[in-house]
Amino acid sequence: MATAARDLGEGEHHSAIRVEVPSTTANLGPGFDVFGMAIGAFWDAVELEECPKRSLELELSGKYGKSIPRKHDANSACLAVKHFLKKFGIERGIRIRLEKNIPVGKGLGSSGASAAGAIVGLDRLLGLGLPKDELVALAAFGESCSAGAPHADNVAPAILGGFVLIQSYDPVRAIGIDPPPNLELAIAIPDIEISTKEARAILPAQVPLGEVARNIGRASSIILGLLRGDVSLIGSGMVDAIVEPVRAKLIPGYDVVKRRALEAGACGVAISGSGPTMVAVVDNRVAKASDVAKAMAEGFSDAGLDCESLAARPCGGAKVVWMR
Ligand code: HSE
Repeated sequence: MATAARDLGEGEHHSAIRVEVPSTTANLGPGFDVFGMAIGAFWDAVELEECPKRSLELELSGKYGKSIPRKHDANSACLAVKHFLKKFGIERGIRIRLEKNIPVGKGLGSSGASAAGAIVGLDRLLGLGLPKDELVALAAFGESCSAGAPHADNVAPAILGGFVLIQSYDPVRAIGIDPPPNLELAIAIPDIEISTKEARAILPAQVPLGEVARNIGRASSIILGLLRGDVSLIGSGMVDAIVEPVRAKLIPGYDVVKRRALEAGACGVAISGSGPTMVAVVDNRVAKASDVAKAMAEGFSDAGLDCESLAARPCGGAKVVWMR
């Protein structure tokens, strides 16, 4: 049994909690499963309450509450909570109320937000105070049901906020970097859905060394751009030679949307997570993110797709709204 179970009850203990969690964008081009950023566009709310029966209960609400699985092993919040309780040998009944406001199947970290909110909430509810990397690892496990494998590039920014680099998976080590204040995002969400599991299943198992080399150069320039506060350098790194060319085929209008974003002044543009949403990085001293978002929406429209478009800023991670 892990250490935290022995400590259970020694910290602050509450019986109910509400956590709000932001949408996220993952990959940013070459950073597959490694880069992620919290975006202040949509928020889920996860409420956890101890219940007398030693069972897991799930209530769904919100605009997209009917769009996500109710079965516990197919729901990222339930899967994460079950894994957490089992890992620490904790026998408690938990009711999860999940208010799903982040669009589902769009590449905006919807399943990651559910898992991240559930893990942050459970940790606080039980008064454990686990280290952040452990929270990220537990939440990443919850992603297995929607992605087919744990990945941390959505849950880490959902928990920590800002830009996050997953430096290691075994053990999980997530490193946060504050995005520059002039970095804004233009987001275009077309009216199609892509399953993350399917978008991962089509990826090549092996890739040419030359493509890996190009990706390392671009990924490194994203990190350097973040450290220097150079949005143009960040954007120029958002070109992926490995994953995006395969997934682009699932997104009608991909090339047009990308071109329109760059013409409107974006510094870089990429598929958000496994798509179909496209995300552009904008230096707000050079162009307006809302103009870029509009141009991207026109690109999708040219491809015959309706689209929701918006401008947003990077934001902080999961926050506890109340505990009682
Ligand atoms: N890194 C993950 C992927 C993110 O691209 O499959 C999924 O949102």
